[in-house]
This record gives sequence, structure tokens and C-alpha cells, in this order.
Amino acid sequence: MKKNGYGVLMIALLVNAWNGCQSVGESEDKTETTQVDLESWKTQGQEYAMKAQQALGQNLKAALQQGGPPFAVDFCNTRAIPITDSAAQELKVSLRRVSDKYRNPGNQANEKESKYISRAKEQLAAGETIHPAIEEMEGKMIGYYPILTNAMCMNCHGQPGKDINEETLNLIKERYPDDRAVGYQPHEVRGIWVVEMDAAGATSSGHIEE
Ligand code: HEC
Repeated sequence: MKKNGYGVLMIALLVNAWNGCQSVGESEDKTETTQVDLESWKTQGQEYAMKAQQALGQNLKAALQQGGPPFAVDFCNTRAIPITDSAAQELKVSLRRVSDKYRNPGNQANEKESKYISRAKEQLAAGETIHPAIEEMEGKMIGYYPILTNAMCMNCHGQPGKDINEETLNLIKERYPDDRAVGYQPHEVRGIWVVEMDAAGATSSGHIEE
């Protein structure tokens, strides 16, 4: 019964992100260890991604409640990256949220990240568990974790005119003339968290371990 286990976990996380009230920065920085243990790095990175997701989710939820989707677009526009950055700073790691179908061109997935996203989509389509991935690169451990959509995301990433109201859509188009992040349905791979952790002693291999 491992099928979809991770997907369910991510959904639970996303739901938690919308309802949760945990604060960021509770976990200690464990990156000082020199032991190269891919599995534990993978888990560590996943915790970081979840913390950042929670921070972002809480703030977005508050913005939606405060002023509805158009107000929240403004919020995402100006605050998403600073919130991610401050979560990263607190956790002493580098965190990025990237997508193949990006809204902010600054969040465009690179070649390696795109490959991971394609794989995640295939796994989801086949009803398999989406596996996080970890890679060693030049003294850093880089973790890749899927971000799935839920019903809430449809306000701004769903079908234009149906899920996304006109006012919101206009605002999105104004802020992001090259927006590609619409047309999603719930439970799709919207993008990934890329977590970069300092790994003293990690060797450079460029090999992605799943
Ligand atoms: C109120 C509108 C709104 C809602 C609701 C929303 N987003 Fe977004 N999303 C945005 C905006 C605006 C950006 C661009 C942020 C920026 O400029 O950094 C964005 C960016 C992203 C990105 C970064 C990649 C990119 O395309 O730039 C991901 C991943 C993402 N959203 C996932 C989600 C998920 C998953 C949900 C639901 C849990 C969600 N979003 C809900 C408006 C929204």
C-alpha cells in the first residue's frame, strides 16, 4: 500500500499549510555533520521544504481572507520570494520554488529541475509515489520535493474564467505578462521546492539519487 503515499502526504501538508499555525525555525540546523548519508539529507531537506511551505501557506491564507484572490495576488507578487528567503535564512539553507510552467520568470526551472518535474508528473500519472530526490554537488546537497495543487490553488492557477475570476486574471496578466501557470487541476504537479544544504565533506558527483 505504498501507492500514492507521498502524494497523500503532500496534500496533507498543503492542507496543513492553509490551516496550520506552526512557526518556522523550530528545527535546528543539522547541516554541520560531515556524514554523507543521502537518505537523511533527503529527509532533512524535506523538513525544510515543509517549513517554507507552511510559512508561505499561512501568509497566503491570511491574505486571501483579508482581501480575496486579487489582494492575494498582490501579496504573492510582492511577498512570496521575501517570505521564502526569510524562511531559508532562518533555516540556514537556500530554498527556491520553481516550475516548468512558471508565473514569475525568476522561478523558471533549469534543465535538471525540469527533468525532475517531468519524472514527478509521470509518477503521479501512473498512480505511483512521487519520490523526492537528492543530489551531491560541489559540497552541497540539493533536494527536490514536489509541490501539488489543491482546490485552493485553483483561485489563481486553475482555468481562466472558470476558476480564476476576471479581476484576478487581469491582475495576474498585468503583473506577469508571460504567465504560464494557469490551467491546472487539483492534485497536479505545480512545481517543486529545491533545497540547497551545505554539506561539508560531500563530494561532487552530479548524480541524482532517488
Ligand atoms: C491568490 C493567488 C494565488 C493562489 C491562491 C496560489 N498562488 Fe501560486 N502563485 C501566485 C503568484 C502571483 C505567483 C508568483 C509569485 C512570485 O512572483 O514570486 C505564484 C507562484 C507560485 C509558484 C512558484 C513558481 C511560479 O510559477 O512562479 C508555485 C510553485 C505556486 N505558486 C504554487 C501554488 C500552489 C501549490 C498553490 C495552492 C496551494 C498556489 N500556488 C496558490 C498566486 C497564487
